[in-house]
Amino acid sequence: MTRPAESAGRWLERRGNAAPRGMTVILRKGRNRIPLTGLLHTFLFPAIFLLLAATAGPAALAQATPVEEVPFVTTPQDVAEAMLDLAAVTAGDHLIDLGSGDGRIVIAAARRGATALGVENDPWLVQESIRKARDAGVSARARFVEKDLFDADLSSASVVTLYLLPEVNLRLRPSLLALRPGTRVVSHDWDMGDWRPERSITLTVPEKSVGLTKTSRVHLWVVAARVDGLWCGEGARGRGSLRLRQSFQQLHGEAAIGDGTPVALSGQVDGERLALRPSSPATAGVWHLAVDGDGMRTRAADGAWRTAAGLVWRRAATHGGCPAS
Ligand SMILES: C[S@@+](CC[C@H](N)C(=O)[O-])C[C@H]1O[C@@H](n2cnc3c(N)ncnc32)[C@H](O)[C@@H]1O
Repeated sequence: MTRPAESAGRWLERRGNAAPRGMTVILRKGRNRIPLTGLLHTFLFPAIFLLLAATAGPAALAQATPVEEVPFVTTPQDVAEAMLDLAAVTAGDHLIDLGSGDGRIVIAAARRGATALGVENDPWLVQESIRKARDAGVSARARFVEKDLFDADLSSASVVTLYLLPEVNLRLRPSLLALRPGTRVVSHDWDMGDWRPERSITLTVPEKSVGLTKTSRVHLWVVAARVDGLWCGEGARGRGSLRLRQSFQQLHGEAAIGDGTPVALSGQVDGERLALRPSSPATAGVWHLAVDGDGMRTRAADGAWRTAAGLVWRRAATHGGCPAS
């Protein structure tokens, strides 16, 4: 397969001056494009990822100057399928692959009945992807656009897939966190810094052409509803207040229900569902809440939270408190 890209000579020339741990510039596809041979595909681009993996951990890369572009390296087909399995992609999903390369993740999702969109800034790869989708008989569900991935509208996605670079993941992170709660994000190899994945798996990939080991990591995140702040509860049997401090899917805070003393709590958000437990191991009880429009409702409550059953929760007015019980 051939594809236009920057000459290897120019790229290596620029790379020659880069300090190993600060290595950031990967590839800039300029106007002077030359055909890229199969040798470069199997050697140069994988070498870039290999150098990244060998000389800089994700943390170091994340602190480095932002990269301009990510090289074209394909996700092995088995890993692509594992990414879709981890996100449990079905016919009801709409998947967006950012930097879709030759379209393989988009096509694999369309084969499962999902609709899927590939966003790719290399026109040659976009055309190649369209051709492959046609050959696979999934053109009706697999679309490709030539676009910068940072300009893509992700609001329609139920699943977003990435095989980019650590610092690119971090630049995308605010947009991903702002997506609809429950949206799944799957990344091949690279993580999201302190946004910890819900699940990570390691696959043995003998045919992998990059990295120091013949393995791939696949990570899954689920976008959490934003529930940080003060909530006021009201119901037939009384009132309450719930203060939540949120860090990604982790929650801490305290709740005071009825005349009861405030209870410190911790918990998690999974999409639009919250599970809260008393921080003190001496106190039992799980409180399950669900985001419901602008408010929250209790799905189940036991132990310390029994009295929360039946309360409906609304955000306190800005700078306001909750009415006394
Ligand atoms: C490592 S490849 C991954 C390809 C494919 N997603 C896969 O997993 O097989 C990254 C892709 O992102 C594309 N890319 C890099 N920078 C981009 C940008 N700013 N906007 C859109 N695509 C970009 C590259 O051309 C390349 O095809």
